[in-house]
Amino acid sequence: MYQIYPRSFSEGTLVGISSRLDYLQWLGVDALWLSPIFLSPMADGGYDVADYCAIDPQFGTLADFDALLSEVHARGMRLLLDWVPNHTSDQHPWFRESRRDRVNAKADWYVWRDQPTNNWLASFPRGEKAWAFDEQRGQYYLRCFLKEQPDLNWDNPEVVAAMLDTLRFWLDRGVDGFRMDVVHLLGKDLNLNDPPICEERVWGHVPYNDQPTTHQHLRTIRSLLDEYSALAVGEVYLLDEQAMTTYHGAGDELHLCFNFRFLWAPFEADELRSRIARTIEVLRDGGAWPTWVLSNHDVPRHRQRYGGDELHARMAAIMLLTLPGTPFLYQGEELGLVDAKIAPADMIDPGGRDGCRAPIPWNEVARQREHPNSILAFYQRLLRLRRATPALHAAGIDNDSFRLFDGSPGLLAWERSDGDAHWFTYINPSDEPQVCSAAMQGATIVVCTDEALEGTMVGAEMPAGVAWVAHNSGTM
Ligand code: GLC
Repeated sequence: MYQIYPRSFSEGTLVGISSRLDYLQWLGVDALWLSPIFLSPMADGGYDVADYCAIDPQFGTLADFDALLSEVHARGMRLLLDWVPNHTSDQHPWFRESRRDRVNAKADWYVWRDQPTNNWLASFPRGEKAWAFDEQRGQYYLRCFLKEQPDLNWDNPEVVAAMLDTLRFWLDRGVDGFRMDVVHLLGKDLNLNDPPICEERVWGHVPYNDQPTTHQHLRTIRSLLDEYSALAVGEVYLLDEQAMTTYHGAGDELHLCFNFRFLWAPFEADELRSRIARTIEVLRDGGAWPTWVLSNHDVPRHRQRYGGDELHARMAAIMLLTLPGTPFLYQGEELGLVDAKIAPADMIDPGGRDGCRAPIPWNEVARQREHPNSILAFYQRLLRLRRATPALHAAGIDNDSFRLFDGSPGLLAWERSDGDAHWFTYINPSDEPQVCSAAMQGATIVVCTDEALEGTMVGAEMPAGVAWVAHNSGTM
């Protein structure tokens, strides 16, 4: 799955995206997720929606969208839209009506109170109260993000029905699914207080983020999506694998959840191994399918987080594209991009996330496409290998199909099996060679960060700063 941030992908338009589909197909992605393209004043980059059923004119028209969708489908790819159910823009007609007085038809579509009923803080600007006073109505409304992003009241069945209609609108046009923004926030217990303000209180894991009513809403949403065989991917920002996995329900809530503890892991074998092991353990118990994400439009790019060198970015690509589950690429990571340096005066995002949202350098894409040793070519080779190899794209997470090696502490290694086919990923991000135990030896290296090792056999030692994928068709 490949995430596109439409403003900075290609000319900032849907037509621009259409013009790059050949590239995406060449790269080898199966599906695209577009960050929001709906009508928006862009106070939060489109995550403040003023009309869920209209394309923002800066991106183009509905006809451009329909053309894009059919071109995506013609290439055998799928298209997911970003749906923002927790809040609207304050310019949405629903909110304009709701704020008018206390008796209008939409008076209860948002969360209004005479006084703040808890101590919650908003995400943007960080540290402000989550309750904003509205002069017109003379009451406070809840806004977990910007004051331009009032929270919808999902306890109101009319809101649920209206939001389901927005999904239907796009499903009827043929979209294949949705990435659902901060979906763990839908149900709220307004009587809960956050813990006292402290450094660790980053947005995303405060108590109001994980309420039982959310699951009822997700089941309702899922049953609609099931009518269309559409996919539900949730941004469940809970930083806890066990809590995250409950959002799959009994196979009747989200199909996929983003795994933010994995995203935030330092690039060290032990830490990665323990977070991967934990993820697999909880998902295996729940019968769900993992996702693996390293970068998106909200966080510094992973190459940057991992120290900036291309070698670590290549090691990360091997990890991302050979773990069992669905990998997500964020536009430009296949070029090995780091964040752009943006002067404070030029920043436009209230969350300071401009650096990872800079325009895709298409001249750099062209340059890398001509070089078989570029990181782009490396991603493409990995994606081809993955697609051609059932053990890498289809084998599951049961004990027979996936085995993490304890191995030496600095070595992250696993085996994936599909019948007699066994594939091994070894990643040694450390500065020291690592020992490969007997069970890890003998396979042939197929793709490696050091191309000179491709075609050779795994021996007793794994060199420092190397990652590879190796294959053994016999039993080990
Ligand atoms: C999600 C989006 C982020 C946005 C926030 C509020 O986390 O990914 O970009 O600012 O929700 O909608």
